[in-house]
Amino acid sequence: MRLDGRIAIVTGAGSGIGAAIARRFAAAGAQVLAADVRSEAVGALAAEVDGIAAHVCDVTRAVEVDALVVASVERFGKLDVIVNNVGQSIAGWLKDASDEEWQQVLALTLSSTFFGVRAALRVMLPQRSGSIINISSGAGFGGSPGLASYGAAKAGVNNLTRSVAVENARSGVRINAIAPGAIETPAILAWARSLPGGVPAYEATLLPGRFGRPDEIAAAALFLASDEASFVNGAVIPVDGAASARMAAIEVPKP
Ligand SMILES: NC(=O)c1ccc[n+]([C@@H]2O[C@H](COP(=O)([O-])OP(=O)(O)OC[C@H]3O[C@@H](n4cnc5c(N)ncnc54)[C@H](O)[C@@H]3O)[C@@H](O)[C@H]2O)c1
Repeated sequence: MRLDGRIAIVTGAGSGIGAAIARRFAAAGAQVLAADVRSEAVGALAAEVDGIAAHVCDVTRAVEVDALVVASVERFGKLDVIVNNVGQSIAGWLKDASDEEWQQVLALTLSSTFFGVRAALRVMLPQRSGSIINISSGAGFGGSPGLASYGAAKAGVNNLTRSVAVENARSGVRINAIAPGAIETPAILAWARSLPGGVPAYEATLLPGRFGRPDEIAAAALFLASDEASFVNGAVIPVDGAASARMAAIEVPKP
């Protein structure tokens, strides 16, 4: 799958899944605007990889996301793909969550996606082409203890994705979401290392027996960005080694 001549924005491209998607898109021939609130992180990525340019942006601020999309149009004349990748959880039981924590998770995870989708639509609808990709989570499919605000925000991302697809089904613009399972990004690896038994013990508890890799999410993003996905619209695609397919309440003993 190739993205030659395509212009793509990836938010949260300074680390983890976003960085892997930016690299994958550039390797497929796209020009990528790698956006992140940490200038040093996207600056290093842009310095290392041909086809990637850095853009500093706080995606919780609508005005900065609008400016990011305008920068793509001013620099490249168009926008073909946007990956709204920033999201963040604050772990803890909901009864203990402060107003500020709730607002922070919603701002980083759901409002940031809304700002990216809206800004992209304003360019892509007149173009009558474009692919919008939202990075959701398995936490948006069901209840996860300690992740209620994050799960609510990711469920919102899923419905935002479907609703915008239905609103614009004949427009030439497609919008889809990817719901990753547990992926070995720096923060999750650091957390798993702190547990008894470290990373191997934690991986043994995961249904597929291992973390997913950021490049396995990037592969799904490349498909959704490409013309190969021309009839895929309004989909929320799990990329999780079957984790979201399981109904944990029913345990069937091994034969
Ligand atoms: N890692 C996982 O296991 C996993 C699982 C499911 C879903 N996800 C989702 O994937 C996405 C990426 O997660 P990750 O693990 O790669 O994260 P990460 O922490 O490795 O990277 C996130 C990046 O976003 C940037 N960022 C944070 N706040 C920002 C802001 N306000 N504006 C712009 N950039 C900002 C950070 O600087 C960082 O570079 C998130 O939406 C997350 O919810 C991750």
